[in-house]
Amino acid sequence: MNDPQRNSDPISAPRELALPLLHSAERLSAESTPLAEQALGPRDIRFVDTLRISVTDRCNFRCLYCMPDEELDWLSRDELLRYEEIVAIARTAISLGVRDFKITGGEPLLRRDLESLVRELRALEGTREISLTSNGMILDRFADPLAKAGVDRVTVSLDTLDPAKFRAITRRGDLEQVWEGIRAAESVGLGPVKINVVAMRTQNLEELAEFAALTRESERTVRFIEFMPLADSQLDERQEFVPYTEIRTLIERVHGPLEPAQRDTGNGPANVFRIPGAPGRIGFIHAMSQPFCATCNRLRLTAEGQLRSCLFDGGEVELKPLVRPHVDSAALRQAFVDCVRLKPDQHRHYGTRQMSQIGG
Ligand code: GTP
Ligand code: 5AD
Ligand code: SF4
Repeated sequence: MNDPQRNSDPISAPRELALPLLHSAERLSAESTPLAEQALGPRDIRFVDTLRISVTDRCNFRCLYCMPDEELDWLSRDELLRYEEIVAIARTAISLGVRDFKITGGEPLLRRDLESLVRELRALEGTREISLTSNGMILDRFADPLAKAGVDRVTVSLDTLDPAKFRAITRRGDLEQVWEGIRAAESVGLGPVKINVVAMRTQNLEELAEFAALTRESERTVRFIEFMPLADSQLDERQEFVPYTEIRTLIERVHGPLEPAQRDTGNGPANVFRIPGAPGRIGFIHAMSQPFCATCNRLRLTAEGQLRSCLFDGGEVELKPLVRPHVDSAALRQAFVDCVRLKPDQHRHYGTRQMSQIGG
């Protein structure tokens, strides 16, 4: 592959960029300094530490809040980025300070030989964490090979604890199979699994406190996500949207006041709490009612090769021409810097791209 950067120091400063990179000590101090006191902001590439990589737009579910039921216009194999192209992009991301990779879809486990991509990402000097967000349906088969390839942990989407409702919300899924997947992941060291629950007024409102109760029994983190209106979502936002404050009230009415808990390292999207004494944590992702764009630390790579500045419509840069037929590392680095400058002060209300194409 024509990639002159291949053997170079992954954290050295790219000369052609106006912005110098922070050295690791500076990065550390930046991480521990309150945002307001930092020169960095979310539109500074040095602030970005996570790249979310969607490896496919396909899914074996059709969640109500994500996509329609009928056959979607999936990307063809040739339209997808190849693994070596993703790795070249990841290498560039690392050279700009990215350390963590989140593998998403659609359903990422549907992409053939995902383990080999994970192995290659893991082999890059500078990779810190590799995590995966899955719907869990075929996770029991893949947990072990993925752990061996280098995945550190998984997050699983689960919006109801009732098997019939689960089938209705996902239009395809089998709840027990997903629990199998969660247990398999934890048995091979990919836990404690984080569970993502999208709150929906007519679907799971009465179950939210029950979900919170799961954190009394295990170290899992259960995260409640506000519904985000993106592309072909089949939910009526006015009817289904439940704001963070209401979700929290419902939980506290049953479990008492939550206490703040330790966040994960970096600026993840979730605000994290705990039922006093419980081993697990409760997170809230309130992108709609209380956007967290000012602390956004991530860029997104779609399966087709667009680098997106925002989950909503913040603007994107096409990377495929920069890796196919040859990798142009300098242009890739510039594309990252250009893309991060497109980040909005605050995201729009709607997004035109399907969640399954962006990967959350
Ligand atoms: P983990 O902690 O590893 O699960 O990572 P994560 O919370 O970043 O990602 P996950 O894939 O579990 O996403 C959880 C939810 O948060 C999804 O609904 C995402 O769309 C949403 N989310 C993640 N990052 C952002 C973000 O930067 N902005 C917005 N608006 N939503 C986000
Ligand atoms: N709003 C909020 N969260 C969503 N997810 C998918 N679509 C939406 C939406 N419209 C969640 C899934 C998965 C994560 C990647 O994104 O439940 O856990
Ligand atoms: Fe598939 Fe995830 Fe979309 Fe559900 S939310 S249809 S699991 S991509």
